[in-house]
Amino acid sequence: MHILHKTISAIALAAILFVSCKKNTDTSASPSTNSTPINKADYEIITATLNLPESSFNYIALNLPFHFGAPPISSTDNTPVNINPITNDGATLGRVLFYDKSLSLNNTIACASCHKQENSFTDPLQFSKGILGGLTDRNSMSLANARYYANGRFFWDERAVTLEDQTLMPIQHPVEMGMTLDSLEKKLAAKDYYKVLFRKAFGDESVTRDRISKALAQFIRSMVSYQSKYDDGLATLGHPPAPNEDLPGFSQIENQGLRVFNANCAGPCHNTELQTMPVARNNGLDLVYNDNGVGKVTGRAIDNGKFKSPSLRNVMLTAPYMHDGRFLTIEQVIEHYSTGVKNHPNLDNRLKDPVTGQARPLNLTQQQKNAIVAFLNTLSDNKFITDIKYSNPFK
Ligand code: HEC
Repeated sequence: MHILHKTISAIALAAILFVSCKKNTDTSASPSTNSTPINKADYEIITATLNLPESSFNYIALNLPFHFGAPPISSTDNTPVNINPITNDGATLGRVLFYDKSLSLNNTIACASCHKQENSFTDPLQFSKGILGGLTDRNSMSLANARYYANGRFFWDERAVTLEDQTLMPIQHPVEMGMTLDSLEKKLAAKDYYKVLFRKAFGDESVTRDRISKALAQFIRSMVSYQSKYDDGLATLGHPPAPNEDLPGFSQIENQGLRVFNANCAGPCHNTELQTMPVARNNGLDLVYNDNGVGKVTGRAIDNGKFKSPSLRNVMLTAPYMHDGRFLTIEQVIEHYSTGVKNHPNLDNRLKDPVTGQARPLNLTQQQKNAIVAFLNTLSDNKFITDIKYSNPFK
C-alpha cells in the first residue's frame, strides 16, 4: 500500500514536472551537456573577447510544442541533415560570425546590423545601410523560422538555392559587407578565438568559406520562434483548431481575428501554423513593377512581381512591410488586401475573383481589420527576441 502510494505520487510528480516543463519553462536557453567540453586555456582565449557560457547553449533539443513536430510544419524543414546538421558548437560559431563586424571590409557592419533580434532579425529601416553608407535595394527579411520553408530557397526573389549558398552572399555584396572570401578566411584565421571556435565546431582550426557558410546557416536554422501566445493556445488545445473553434487563452477579438485570418489570408496563402507561403507569388502590389523579383532572376515574364513571403511569425515586430518596405504599418498592409490589390497579369489566382478573373478585394470591415491585427499580435514571441542564445556575444 505504502509502496503503491509512493509510486503514484512519483508518477503524479513526474507528470506535473513534465507538464510544467512543457508549458512554462523554456529550458532551451540553459547550457547543454552535449557539446564538446572546453579546456581552461581555450575558455580564457574565448572569454577575452566573447561572453559565451562554458558549456554551450542548447540550439538543437528545443522544447517544441506538438504542432512543430507534426506535418505540415515538420515537412517544411529545410535542414540538410546529412550535409549540415545543427550542432551546439556549430550554431555557437555561427552566432559569433553573425555578430562579428570583421566580416565586413571596414569592420563596421555585421549580419546583425541589418537583422536585429528585437525586430525578429529584420531591420526597422526601409532599406538597410551597408559598409559605405550605401542602401540595400530591398527591405531586410526576418530570419525567424527561416528553416521551415520547404523549397529551401532564400531572398525575396529566391535567388539563393540553399541557405548555405545565401550566407556567403551578403559578405561579398559590394554595398552590404564588401569582402572577398579569400581575405575573409585569412582575417578570421588570424583571430585566436576563431581557432578555438572552428576547432570545437568542425574538429580542427582551419577557417574555410564552406565552414563559415555552414556555421551561419546552423545559427539561422536554430532561430525557431515557438513561444507566442498563439503557440500556447494551440498547445493547450492539443489539436489543430476546427474552423469555428476558439483558442484557449485568446480574447474574443483575437479569436475573431483568427477566423477572419484563416478565412481570408491563411487558407489561400499564409498557411501552416507558421503562416508561411510555400512558393513565391504575385500579390498585386503594382501594375508595373520597378523590381520584378523572381522574374528578374529567371528572365521569364510569368515570374514578374513574384516574391517570397517569409513566415508571419512576429510580423508585428518586422515593419516596414513587403520586399521594398513600402507599407509602414500593418494597417496599410491589410488595406492593400482589402481594397488595393492590382490586376497584374501574374496576380495569384487566390487573390482573383474566379468568375471575372479580376482582382478580388476582400472589402473587410473596420471590425474585421481590427480583429486581424489583434490576431497578428498573438504571433509575437517575446522569449525569442530576448533569448540570450541569439544575442550579441561580443563584450
Ligand atoms: C546591409 C544589410 C544586410 C546585411 C549586412 C546582411 N543582410 Fe541579410 N538581408 C538583407 C536584405 C536587404 C535582405 C533581402 C535581400 C533580397 O531579397 O534581395 C536580406 C535577406 C537575408 C536572408 C533571406 C531570408 C529569407 O527568408 O529568404 C537571409 C537568410 C539573410 N539575409 C542572412 C544574412 C546573413 C547570414 C548575413 C551576414 C553574413 C546578412 N544577412 C547580412 C540585408 C542585410
